[in-house]
Amino acid sequence: MNRFTLKLFVAVACLLLDAGVSGFKMTTCGPHVHRLTCETGVINVTSAFFGRADIGTCAGAKEPGEVTNTQCSLDSAMDLVTRRCTGKKVCELNANCFDHDPCPETFKYIQSTYTCIPAIHMIVCEQSLAHLECDNGKTIHVIGADFGRRDHVTCGFRRDPALVRRLDCTNPIDFPGQKCNRKSNCEFRASKSVLGSGCAVTSQYLELAYTCQ
Ligand SMILES: *[C@@H]1O[C@H](CO)[C@@H](O)[C@H](O)[C@H]1NC(C)=O
Repeated sequence: MNRFTLKLFVAVACLLLDAGVSGFKMTTCGPHVHRLTCETGVINVTSAFFGRADIGTCAGAKEPGEVTNTQCSLDSAMDLVTRRCTGKKVCELNANCFDHDPCPETFKYIQSTYTCIPAIHMIVCEQSLAHLECDNGKTIHVIGADFGRRDHVTCGFRRDPALVRRLDCTNPIDFPGQKCNRKSNCEFRASKSVLGSGCAVTSQYLELAYTCQ
């Protein structure tokens, strides 16, 4: 690549980024873990599909009968993936997370598209105060909030191991958006009495992302 083509390449790449075109597509076959991740910014889910829309995807060594139904799609897939993933840096789920199976005889896949958008991302340990703030006359817009636990380490300092054992507790909550949206600053306690105890016998933490608009 000579210098001119390199420059052109960089210019085109920047244009694409500016236009917000850069996105990711993740396809996961059958029961396996569907993982979305953003190295910079937070996840913004733009589409999500659970079912089968063509014969080829995830066909592998499947029997023809398992891949011929290409009209299978769960309507609520987008809602579920959006609620679980939007505003996080990492999000994992699998086929068991969907509330029902739209076509039991068919071998299905999960397919999501998402972008990574700039946002203020924070983790607040249980019982600490969440403090959201925007300067210059801008106001808070909460993108996503979850009060649960998805790893052993976060907010685990000197905690009883029994309280940080769970790593499957996703508990999306609306409270931060209801309380803070359109304000310039906002504070509340990340406690079970305020945000709900979604995960039994577990020390929970709040993961939240917001922008200033
Ligand atoms: C995030 O995704 C939604 C569609 O799910 C879209 O309407 C919205 O504009 C996106 N936000 C940004 C900042 O790209």
